[in-house]
Amino acid sequence: MAAQKQTTFSNKESWHILLSLLRFAKPYKFLFMFSFVFLALSAAIAAYLPIIIQRYIDTYLAKGSATMEITVRVVIFYGVLTIFKAGFSYIKDFLFNTASERTVGNIRNQLYEKVGLLGMRYFDQTPAGTVVSRVTNDTETIKEFWTVFLNISNGLFNVISITIAMFALNWRMALVFLLFTPIIVWIAGIYRKKSTLVYSRMRGVLSQLNAKLSESISGMSIVQKYHQEERLIGEFDDINQEYVAARRSMYSMNALLLAPAINVIESVALVAVLIIFGYQDWSQNTVDIGLVYAFTAYSRSFFQPISQMMNSLSSLQDGIVSGHRVQELLQSEELAPQSNSEGNSLVTEGHIRVSNLNFSYDGKKQVLRNINFEVNPGETVALVGQTGSGKSSIINVLMRFYDYHEGEITIDGHSLKDMPIEGLRTKMGLVLQDSFLFYGTIADNIRMYNENYTEAEIEQAAEFVYADDFILEMENGYASKVIERGASLSAGEKQLISFARTILRSPRILILDEATANIDTETEEKIQKGLANMRKGRTSLIIAHRLSTIKDANKILVLDNGEIVEQGTHDELIDQKGTYYDMYQLQTYQEKTGELETYEQ
Ligand SMILES: Nc1ncnc2c1ncn2[C@@H]1O[C@H](COP(=O)(O)OP(=O)(O)O)[C@@H](O)[C@H]1O
Ligand SMILES: [Mg+2]
Repeated sequence: MAAQKQTTFSNKESWHILLSLLRFAKPYKFLFMFSFVFLALSAAIAAYLPIIIQRYIDTYLAKGSATMEITVRVVIFYGVLTIFKAGFSYIKDFLFNTASERTVGNIRNQLYEKVGLLGMRYFDQTPAGTVVSRVTNDTETIKEFWTVFLNISNGLFNVISITIAMFALNWRMALVFLLFTPIIVWIAGIYRKKSTLVYSRMRGVLSQLNAKLSESISGMSIVQKYHQEERLIGEFDDINQEYVAARRSMYSMNALLLAPAINVIESVALVAVLIIFGYQDWSQNTVDIGLVYAFTAYSRSFFQPISQMMNSLSSLQDGIVSGHRVQELLQSEELAPQSNSEGNSLVTEGHIRVSNLNFSYDGKKQVLRNINFEVNPGETVALVGQTGSGKSSIINVLMRFYDYHEGEITIDGHSLKDMPIEGLRTKMGLVLQDSFLFYGTIADNIRMYNENYTEAEIEQAAEFVYADDFILEMENGYASKVIERGASLSAGEKQLISFARTILRSPRILILDEATANIDTETEEKIQKGLANMRKGRTSLIIAHRLSTIKDANKILVLDNGEIVEQGTHDELIDQKGTYYDMYQLQTYQEKTGELETYEQ
């Protein structure tokens, strides 16, 4: 995390990042190359145009030999070249923007692909807003970086071609202009230093602003419930004000330092040139008005690109920072667990054995200690225990959301690590406390966009878990739209959809992690019918919220602080009068007095 905050880089680091950004452009190198050809052409014409006028003035106008025919010819020549210059410049911009948009599109795709490969550990440590901002904001900044790249190349080509033209016209005048270049470079240095500070402050505040916003949006129901609106508005306003101030200081810095400074230098250089012209005229009595014209024209086009390039330097910084972040995400090694490459074992019967499993999320805090248990094919095992006792962690490891390093888990005699993850996960149907619905129809959400499942299969799955009643009551049945993760459906209805989704894949093993915890008792009773259907003939691992629902389990494991402290059937555990007995007594008492419901809200 600390590394992600890095916003200043040494020249060497910047260079590396630049090179890595260039690598993304490789597939589009011909587009970029062609655009540079047109860039060079239009810069050359731009440098040549004043020379046409200069020649016309000095050869014809000043000597009084300009005929109508010559003038018309010069005008046409000048006009045609100007049109060519505009055309080339258009083609250059078009090619360059096409290439850079595609490059950034390429980066965005690579980022998104990478995000899919990252493990849960990464998302535990990284706020969702940060990941979103990598894929959207940072790639936009990189797009700007390409524009800057174009501006700088443009500037360089112009400065070089104008320098050549000036030397060709009059090397002494050209030298005078060149003398001013170090001053501009010096100002550029000062500007860069100042802008780095101002820009890094601006970026810092902006990311705070984003974080605040995404926090309050994702927690909006809690925010409103606890009347946090005022506090959050106040906090948002503070950060927002700071952002406004940071942006203002950026503008005042730009306005103060940049354009006026360049304008002054431009004028001074012009004055210097004019004085030298004046001196020459006076001593040699030759009047080269055309030359004066050409140099006046050049003074603009020589210093303007330099000022533009300077202006771009700060965006270059931004681009480097974003490039670094993008690179960091792409190189992140917090990958999702992988199966052994040669392993190709499959789940067949659904016989689970966990032996001597120790597990920790962060390598420091031990979450599971010496876990041993076995689930025979078709059996139901229930996990119970206090919040935080490690129930979900067992499932996280079993589903391979997190890798384990001590102990072993086998399914049908094969190590979990030898099972290709995709196959493993289709054979293990997991239903969590909150079902996640995607934007689309009910049918889409059951088939999970897998077109191999037919309508009939989908409907059959829904019927099997008793979800068809409510689906058919909806206006468009299976074709009804699901909006905003199913905001218009009740918790129970959403859960029924996710049951149907699970059962459609005919898993061998069914895993339920407090699947009915968010559902009122009445709905739960209905859902239990569907659940009972699902459990038939399948190995089931159930984390139950209400102990009354797992009384019929073949075995109940009681977890406490990451350890299995009791195990047996419901009746055995009640007889033991231990932890399970206490929990059961408490719950039946609460259920009688209706306390459990209020406690859960
Ligand atoms: N993603 C995670 N990263 C780090 N620690 C975690 C994570 N998830 C859970 N824990 C910790 O692991 C312990 C067990 O949590 P969990 O298995 O979710 O408990 P349960 O499901 O029994 O309520 C808790 O102390 C919790 O703080
Ligand atoms: Mg849990």
